[in-house]
Amino acid sequence: MAKKPETIFFCSECGYETRKWLGRCPGCQAWNTLVESRSVTGSDGTTKNNSRHSWLTTATRAGEDNVSEDGLLDLSTVSTDRIARVSSGLKEFDRVLGGGFVPGSLVLVGGDPGIGKSTLLLQVSAKNKFKGGHVLYVCGEESPSQVKLRASRLEIKGAAVKLYPEIIFERIAQVILKLRPALVIVDSIQTMYSEELTSAPGSVSQIREVTAGFLRLAKHLNCTIVLVGHVTKDGAIAGPRVLEHMVDTVLYFEGESHSSLRMIRGFKNRFGATNELGIFEMTGRGLQTVENASLAMIAGRPQGVAGSAITACLEGTRPLLLEIQVLLNDTAYGMPQRMAQGLDRGRISMLMAVLEKHIGLNFGNMDAFCNVVGGLRIDDPAADLAIAAAMTSSYRDVPVKNQGILIGEIGLTGELRPVSAVSQRIGEAGRLGFTTCILPGSCRRQGEQIQASKSTPELLYADHLSEALDMAF
Ligand code: TYD
Ligand code: MG
Repeated sequence: MAKKPETIFFCSECGYETRKWLGRCPGCQAWNTLVESRSVTGSDGTTKNNSRHSWLTTATRAGEDNVSEDGLLDLSTVSTDRIARVSSGLKEFDRVLGGGFVPGSLVLVGGDPGIGKSTLLLQVSAKNKFKGGHVLYVCGEESPSQVKLRASRLEIKGAAVKLYPEIIFERIAQVILKLRPALVIVDSIQTMYSEELTSAPGSVSQIREVTAGFLRLAKHLNCTIVLVGHVTKDGAIAGPRVLEHMVDTVLYFEGESHSSLRMIRGFKNRFGATNELGIFEMTGRGLQTVENASLAMIAGRPQGVAGSAITACLEGTRPLLLEIQVLLNDTAYGMPQRMAQGLDRGRISMLMAVLEKHIGLNFGNMDAFCNVVGGLRIDDPAADLAIAAAMTSSYRDVPVKNQGILIGEIGLTGELRPVSAVSQRIGEAGRLGFTTCILPGSCRRQGEQIQASKSTPELLYADHLSEALDMAF
């Protein structure tokens, strides 16, 4: 009698493995997260998890001469030459990568459909800064002619780019082993599948298996592999959480599809700072880096209207001026609404509570809509003061005094708390022509150390929210 292929079930959240299906994962207690996967059985009948990547046995381990017979390495003899970064050819993309691609790393780029993932990576592959190395573009989603169409739109000649329309992982692995490219783009990971598993492409087990395969290829051949990942409705990369744990770098596209600005944020980076932000503009000829990000973010802001305030946030290592808008309106029916875009709803509720208690505003029967203009998500608490000012401005229907920016974290007693990188934020405000800046009193020392120049804004210090609001109106 033919033996039924053995299957195991593993948790898509934490990776817990079990032989039978369970409704709740004993590992992380999450419900309905166990998915089926085929376990590979060796010739001796034992389950071998690591023997799956049979294609790798033929691969030689590139550039590892100092490996002893038992596979051990002396830390002192490990060379770091191979970690020399290679620029992607786009300055803003290098910024989120932490200075460029690290050879041998696996990078995941996620984002909503149509936001520009394929465009960005085609541009990067055409620039090819890997000296003498090939670029392999695996297109699982689009036909070569569609890729070519995009390339002509981007005015890319792309002589060094090799296209490979394929979705079967084992075949791609063979091509990579033969071609030894310096950079591989996989568009997208959800379309790839391994013949060793029976489940459909895009299923959790396929994604997990194929990503593990690409990871091993990247490490063994010392090539950079970029995976494109789709994003689900709730904003996570479709597929198991383990996908994010497996790769070295996770980058997400942010931004609104109706605006031309596109932001790429680093969520995880084994070789650089996270939370770094790259800012691009989608033009008729692909993504162009935005030189003056602050100006792009606050361009076209309304002057002299109530409900708007400007702040300077720190995005990674870069100060960025942003406009916060708030609209307060009488509630038409029942429960007042609290809507926030680009801001944390909990933080908004806290700031409204502080304004009610310490400034005496009454939001009890008002709907509140808060927005960060430009589609950026911010979690820098230094924006608190600007949010409170925009709220007060909308409440009183009085605009914030022109040409002023507001920086400061607000505590529960209404006190203004210090913020980091004061000089960078003020420098950015001065560069864009702002003439006053309201700051927490505790930042006075940093403020006084700033070398005053013609463009430096006048610095006003406030210890309490009420003081700051008196200055702002
Ligand atoms: P695409 O890169 O295919 O997105 P993804 O791979 O993330 O799904 O999306 C490109 C979008 O950008 C598409 O709506 C058309 C637009 N676009 C431009 O505006 N200019 C261009 O030069 C290109 C190539 C695309
Ligand atoms: Mg695409």
